Amino acid sequence: MTDYSNYTVSIHYDRRLYRQDIAGSIAHARMLARQGIIPAEDAETIIGGLKAVEGEIESGEFSWDASLEDLHMNIERRLTQLVGPVGGRLHTGRSRNDQIALDLRLYTREVIRDTVRGLRELQLGLVDLAERYAGVLMPGYTHLQRAQPVLFAHHLLAYFQMFRRDVARFRDCYRRADVLPLGSGALAGVPYPTDREFLAKELGFPAITANSMDAVSDRDFLLEYQSAASICMMHLSRLSEEIVIWSSREFGFIRLSDEFTTGSSIMPQKRNPDFAELARGKTGRVYGHLMALLTIMKGLPLTYNRDLQEDKEGFFDTVDTLLATLGVFRGMLAGLTLNEEQVTRLAGESYMLATDLADYLVGRGVPFREAHGIMRRLCDYCETEGRELPELSLEDYRRFSAHFDAGVYEITALAAVTARDNPGGTAPNRVADALGQARQLLEAEGDDL
Ligand code: ARG
Repeated sequence: MTDYSNYTVSIHYDRRLYRQDIAGSIAHARMLARQGIIPAEDAETIIGGLKAVEGEIESGEFSWDASLEDLHMNIERRLTQLVGPVGGRLHTGRSRNDQIALDLRLYTREVIRDTVRGLRELQLGLVDLAERYAGVLMPGYTHLQRAQPVLFAHHLLAYFQMFRRDVARFRDCYRRADVLPLGSGALAGVPYPTDREFLAKELGFPAITANSMDAVSDRDFLLEYQSAASICMMHLSRLSEEIVIWSSREFGFIRLSDEFTTGSSIMPQKRNPDFAELARGKTGRVYGHLMALLTIMKGLPLTYNRDLQEDKEGFFDTVDTLLATLGVFRGMLAGLTLNEEQVTRLAGESYMLATDLADYLVGRGVPFREAHGIMRRLCDYCETEGRELPELSLEDYRRFSAHFDAGVYEITALAAVTARDNPGGTAPNRVADALGQARQLLEAEGDDL
């Protein structure tokens, strides 16, 4: 006979929640005794037993049994083996439905802490790198075409802002995860005089859920974590893409440390940016997990449905992927070297200054549209003649507009960035301020949630 029982088993992944499960059970046992629902000595025995179980799990002695399906049953069975039938009192006034909701919320709180810490370390890494190359110019791009010179630090600080918003999203998600669902029972509440406020205090929740039916079937907090994680991975993937492009021979902007590149098995010259590529690739699975959970949830009538057991693997994989990627980026940025000569040279490349030359004409009274047309014709001329703007004589310039004078030669990449001296602009003084503010912000905000 075929054995189908494996289909419902979750122990191989939900065992990850054992610490949260045991912490929740200890608080529950305490509450039951305090409310006179179970005898105080029984609660003592149960708590001692739960701690022993935790010890066994931590030391690896615990034997997980798939025939008991999930972690709750495994832990309860072992507890009862250790302390006898009194262990059976633990599940009074509780259901696995509010129990798993609690475990997941406790776990989510912890991983948000780790995630925010990882993001902040990465932000610090960006600031360090930006400071290491403060003042270095590079070409800024639109349409992946060289557009205008910018400071390398300005480019990096753009990512700082993205990660800052990510931190805010995770913090926001924390607030909604930080609500105690225990005490909701299977769906309708429990027929015992429980004290949910006490439970909340024991487990560090500032609030309790307001509706038992919602509490056992709500997984919004997982969706929020996974949406924030997807957006964050999208940011990391964009940065990965830049790292891949920048480290190519064609660009030659950066060199990654050996630790973050691999050689090819047949092409000895290769330094492949595998870590950045994998980060870009792993973004796909994180999006996938978000889609999966949205899809799992969309057809569920209230309240708990077993479909919800499928919420975990994707979520855990999202957490692992995101935390690992944040760590990799921290290391990758620390070991990254900028080819200053190359980026500076390209930043000063003549077409990059076309906008500034148009602005220069505007400064001499030419309407912008007309100035733009003049520069368009000048650039076309240079392209067909194979010449560069800086080598044109004043006479050459004046053939395109009588408004040109010797001032055109003062327009350099540095002058161009320096002129962009408005809030959010790339002028060196603005970027220096932005760097200072970024550091201050990291210090002021701390890891608090
Ligand atoms: N393993 C289950 C889950 O992860 C726990 C809740 C089970 N509840 C139930 N009524 N079968 O969702």
